[in-house]
Parts: sequence; structure tokens; C-alpha cells
Amino acid sequence: MTVALPEPYFLHGEPKQVLVFFGGTGHLFTQKILPALYFLQKEGRLEKAVLIAIGRRFSTQTEYQNFVFQNLKQHLPTAKDSSLLKLAKSFHYLSGSLEDAQTYRELNRLLPPLPQEIIFYLSTLPSLYQKVVLSLKEHVLSAVAPRSQKIALEKPFGRDEESFAQLESTLKTVFSEEEIYYVDHYLGKETVLNLIILKAENLFLERLLSGEFVQQVHFVVSEKEGVGERGTFYQETGAIKDMVQNHMLQLLTLLAVDIPTLCEEDRKECEQFVVTMNRRRTHLLEEVALPPAKEIKLGQYQSYQAEVNQLHSRVETLVQMPLYLQNPRWSGVPFWLSTGKKLAQKTSFIEVTFNSLTETPNRLLIEIQPEEKIDLIVNVKKFGRELRSVPAKLNLCLSGSFQAATPQAYQKIIHDILLGDHTIFPNSSFIRNSWKIIDKLLALIDKENLTPKIYPDHSPLPVF
Ligand code: BG6
Repeated sequence: MTVALPEPYFLHGEPKQVLVFFGGTGHLFTQKILPALYFLQKEGRLEKAVLIAIGRRFSTQTEYQNFVFQNLKQHLPTAKDSSLLKLAKSFHYLSGSLEDAQTYRELNRLLPPLPQEIIFYLSTLPSLYQKVVLSLKEHVLSAVAPRSQKIALEKPFGRDEESFAQLESTLKTVFSEEEIYYVDHYLGKETVLNLIILKAENLFLERLLSGEFVQQVHFVVSEKEGVGERGTFYQETGAIKDMVQNHMLQLLTLLAVDIPTLCEEDRKECEQFVVTMNRRRTHLLEEVALPPAKEIKLGQYQSYQAEVNQLHSRVETLVQMPLYLQNPRWSGVPFWLSTGKKLAQKTSFIEVTFNSLTETPNRLLIEIQPEEKIDLIVNVKKFGRELRSVPAKLNLCLSGSFQAATPQAYQKIIHDILLGDHTIFPNSSFIRNSWKIIDKLLALIDKENLTPKIYPDHSPLPVF
């Protein structure tokens, strides 16, 4: 193992907020976290932060900083080189394996004796999470005593309910629930957060969102890309654990929850709002009922097996199925989930179809990407003499209406971790309940021997 030894930063100034990124050369870090850090730095949010990245690919700090610069340049081609360099140069790099105690001893050396706050951000292989936490406990936190400590973890949190429970209990030997941030980046997306306001601040809409008026709801996350270099990870995960267990159940519960009253003025009540909303969303998961097996469609894109080099892989890259909520508000309404890779389009949206007597039903369309917009489709009079109707959109385009670039999801996520705001982070009860659903779903798939059907690369939805 080669360990590059940058100078401890505290030799150059006061102890500050320290962010330690595990997996500092990985896909997620370069694609999402780095660009978010760039915008946070531009906003001045990282003035007091020291950035440390741990990885294995490079052995020197200069090599790593070059890598960061090149990555930033690729993602932010219009940004000034000088500001990209500023961020790249602010990284302290530690080269080493996360399975080696020496790496943690070196990390220790980089940390000041009394840091105000240390934030450990785990964007490394999930199979290493427990090892990292235990090593932090043994080698790092026993030697430095930060005034405050936090840990952020990327999904998947375990492989099932049981492994999540093990992970949680390891985490809790070092961190309290308030110090743990389970990251689901869908909750950092502007339109997803808008759902909360849309429901809480438009009573008519909240009332319309129920089985009395709604025929069906459809959640779609369709991706153009295949699994690419994440084949090993994906072979263990598949679409159900990668997308349904987290992002899609988050969307479902946000749309279906009985939203509490939002109060902006009184901070305490707002905190209460978040607590109540999260409790209700967690409870909703207990009311989820699975569909009959024949309604569950699994797919695998044609080139998947060659891409991951596993000729007989039965891993699903696509899921289409309804879920039901067994409560008076939503009884009988199908919540369709469709998600897949290597499809015709990259798009995510929620479509609520209302009961209707006309040919074109009223719909509420909440588009998350590529655009961020909300459309209400209503029938209006067709121009001309006859009294005939035509569907029209009442449209809110978020970027157009507010004349601003919407912040990236990870910008919001890292910002909120720095602030210590838990609003957009699922808690352990939510995650536990979501695994219960997934465990039951996978048991049903296994019992009924459902296997994925092959679909041509870049098929449009619905695939089957
Ligand atoms: C991640 C999944 O959580 O979300 C990826 O692990 C997926 O497989 C990604 O590609 C989709 O995120 P987004 O923001 O591009 O829709």
C-alpha cells in the first residue's frame, strides 16, 4: 500500500469543519458529489470546510488534484478554470485501502486534535460500510474528539431488512440517530421537494389526491444508460433494490401521505411538521400491499449479460408493477411503478390520472427530469363555433417561472448535512419498513419463479 502524506492542514490554520470522503475516486463522487461541491464552494458554503478524500487509484496529492480538476472540467465545461482549480487544490488526498488499519492511522494524522466537526461521507462500496465504521471507532474517533460528528451514507443500506439492522446497529455503536444521514438523492431534487409544498399549501390538490378522485398513479424513472462500469454492484442489486426500495418508495409515500399543516413562522411547529410527515410516511409503508404475481413484470436489456460478462444472469434491469395502499384514502388505487435501464428516454415523472367521464382524463403531471415542471391537464373549449373540448395544460415550469437554475440534488444534500437539517433524509424506521416490502416482493418473485424477459436496448416504455 502506498500512502501519500499530505501535510496536516491544521498546520496552516485553525481547526475547522472537516469533510472526509471515502470513495474519493469513485463514480458517484466524480459524477455527482464533485459538481455539487463546486456550486457549494461558489456560494461560499465551504469557506470553513477542509476536504479530505480517500481513494486507491492515485498515490500522490498532485495526481489526485489533477484528477479532480479534469473531472470538474468535464462536468462543468463553462465554469472558469480558476474556480475549478480552487476546488481541486483544496483537496487533501489520502491514498490507501479502507480495509487497512494504516489508512485510518494516516487519516488520524491529518485531523486536528480538536476539530469543531467531522463529517464522514461514505460513497464507497456498501459492503465496506461496517468495516469503515468500526475502523473509525477504533483508530480515529478514539484519538480525536470532535465537538460534533456526523456520518453520511449512500444507498443501498444493506441488502435486506436483516443486513440493514446489522448495519444500523454497527452505526449506532459510534453515532446517534441524529448524527446519521442516510442519503437518497431523489429527496434532494427540487420537483420532488415541491411535492411537499404542493400538497401542504394547496388544500384543494391535497383533497383531490385520494381514491375518491384518482383512478391511478404512475411513477416512472426511465434511464437511457445501461449499468456501464457498475456491473459488479448491479449484479448484487438489480432494479428492485437499486431503485424501488428507495427512490420509488420515497416518491410514492410523498405523494400519498396525509400531509400535516405546514407552518413557516414557528420553527418548532415546522420541526413538528417534518417529524409528523416522516412518521406518517413510514407508517404508509406498513399499508403497502403487493400485487398478484402476474402483475409483476421484470425485464433485462438485451446487451446486459454481455456488458456485465455474466452469460446466465437473471438480474432484472427493469420492473413494472402496481402497489396498493390498504387505507381508506387510497383503497383500490393502483400505484404503478416503472423503472428500467437502457430505455429509449431518460425521464422521471409522476402522473396522477383522475376519474373522468371524458375521453381525455384530467391528469396531474409532475416531471422531475429532464425538465422540472408541473402540468395540470384539463379540458377546455376547442377554438371555434362548436361546443367541443380539447385537453390543455396549466403549466408551471420551475426554471422558467423562477428564472433560476435549480440546484443540483447533491448540492442540497451536502448543504443540509453541513447545516444538520434532517428534513430530506430518511430515518432508520423508514428504511426498515421499505426493506420489509422488498423482502416480501423478492420472496414472491422467488416463489413464483418470475424471471426477467429480455427487451431490446433502448425500448420505449411500456416495454411489455
Ligand atoms: C441511483 C442508482 O441511486 O440513481 C442508479 O443507483 C441510477 O442506478 C440513479 O442510475 C438515477 O438517478 P438520476 O438522478 O439520474 O435519476
